[in-house]
Amino acid sequence: MPEITFVKVDGEKVVVDAKAGNTVMEVAREYDLPMLAACGGALACATCHVVVDEGWYEKTGEVSEDEEDLLDTAHNLTATSRLCCQIKVSDDLDGLVVNLTPME
Ligand code: FES
Repeated sequence: MPEITFVKVDGEKVVVDAKAGNTVMEVAREYDLPMLAACGGALACATCHVVVDEGWYEKTGEVSEDEEDLLDTAHNLTATSRLCCQIKVSDDLDGLVVNLTPME
């Protein structure tokens, strides 16, 4: 099972086993991490915004135009920001590190 490290806003790291095929947002929900993900993965809210660790960004896959548009509405946007309902967990992402953003 791929392992994902979530870094909370206060710096606490939570390492979890993720099921391949789920999205990173679904994994965060499964482990009750602080993330609103208000639209449930429908690409309509931007409250699943995470900042991917630089070394991992490329591996998280293509960013669609719709995701880019929504990301533009997110607070604290960075060059490695993603909406994590759009990141599918796979064995290639074993070791992935994502930073959670403040819930607002
Ligand atoms: S959960 Fe709403 S865009 Fe990801």
